[in-house]
Amino acid sequence: MNDAARRKPGKVLCAVKDMQLARWIELLSHRRDVVTPEDDLSDPDIRFAVVWRPDPGLLAGLKGLEVIFSMGAGVDRLLEDPTIPDLPIVRVVDPSLTSHMVEFVLWRVLDHHRQGRLYREQQAARHWRQHKQWLAREVTVGVMGFGVLGRAAASRLLQLGFRVAGWSRSGATMEGVTTFGGEDGLPAFLTMTDILVVLLPLTDATRGIIDYDLLRRLRRDGPLGGPVLINAGRGQLQREDDIVRALDDGILFEASLDVFAVEPLPADSPLWTHPRVFATPHVAAESDPGDLAPVMLDQMDAFERGEPLVNVVDRNRGY
Ligand code: NDP
Ligand code: OXD
Repeated sequence: MNDAARRKPGKVLCAVKDMQLARWIELLSHRRDVVTPEDDLSDPDIRFAVVWRPDPGLLAGLKGLEVIFSMGAGVDRLLEDPTIPDLPIVRVVDPSLTSHMVEFVLWRVLDHHRQGRLYREQQAARHWRQHKQWLAREVTVGVMGFGVLGRAAASRLLQLGFRVAGWSRSGATMEGVTTFGGEDGLPAFLTMTDILVVLLPLTDATRGIIDYDLLRRLRRDGPLGGPVLINAGRGQLQREDDIVRALDDGILFEASLDVFAVEPLPADSPLWTHPRVFATPHVAAESDPGDLAPVMLDQMDAFERGEPLVNVVDRNRGY
C-alpha cells in the first residue's frame, strides 16, 4: 500500500460566504469531515477547500491543502488574492449551471428580440399598438466568450433560428456558427453582431473590454432599432459610464445586465433606473450545492486514488 492510499481521507474547509453555507456543509459532511473558517485550521488533514470569495489570506494558512475547489465557474476573485497558494484550482463546469445560463441567455435574447420593453411600456400606458415582428434568422447574436457557457447558449440560439457568431481567444469553431479569434477577429465579429452576449471570464486581458468604442462598432443597421448588450460574464468587463453614454447617445439600443463592477449595484447607479436597462442581481446561473457538492466529493475521492483532476484553471491564462 502506498503512502497516498494509507492516508486518512482529507478534510474539507468550506468557505462559501453568504452562499447557502449550511447546505454546503450538510452535503459535504455526508462523505467528509468539514471545517469552516471559524474552526482551528492548523490541522494538516485539511487537504481540500471549497470556496467562494474567501477572505484574502485564508487559504495561505492551510499547511496540508492540496486542491482548491471554486464554487463558481469564474475564478477571478480567487486569483486576485496574491497569497493564494500555488495549487490546482478546480472550477465549476456542470450541466445544471450551464442550463441555468442558457435559460438566462435565451430569456434575455428573446425579450429584446420580441420588443419586451416596448410592450411593457405600452401595457403600463394601456396603449394598444402592434409592431413589426422580426424573424430570428434576421438577427445575429454574437457570443463573446465561446467557452462552456457560450457554446451551450450558441447551440440553443441556433435551434431557435438566430444567426450566431462566436468570439474567443483561440477562434474555436462550431458548425453553423461564424467564429472569430483574438484581437484580429474582433472588428468583423462586432460588425455583424446585433445582440452581443458577453460570457467572458474576467482577466487582465478582458477587464474593461466592453467600452464605448467597442459598443460603437456593433452592427447599427440591424432590425431591432440598434444593438443590444447582454452581459452575464463579470461586471468589471464593462465600463458602466460608457454603457450609459452609449444608451443615451443612441449607440446602444438596450442592455440586459446581470453583473456589475460593484455588487450589490450601488443605490445611486444610473443603471438601476435607466429606461433601456434590464438589471438582475447576478442571478444568471446559480451554483446549486445539491448538484455541485457530490461532483466535488467525487473529484476528491478520485484525487486521493491518484486520478487526475478535471476542469483545472490555467493560472497563466487567468481562467
Ligand atoms: P470558459 O473558460 O469555458 O470560456 C471562456 C471563454 O472566453 C473561452 O472561449 C475563451 O477563449 C474566451 N476568452 C477568454 N479570454 C479571452 C480573451 N482575452 N479574448 C477572447 N476570448 C477570451 O468559461 P465559462 O464559459 O464556463 O464561463 C464564462 C464566465 O461566465 C465565467 O468566467 C464567469 O465569469 C461567468 N459566469 C457568470 C455567471 C452568472 O451567474 N452571471 C455564472 C457562471 C459563470 P478560448 O476558448 O480560446 O479559451
Ligand atoms: C460563477 C458565478 O462564476 O456565479 O459561477 O458568477
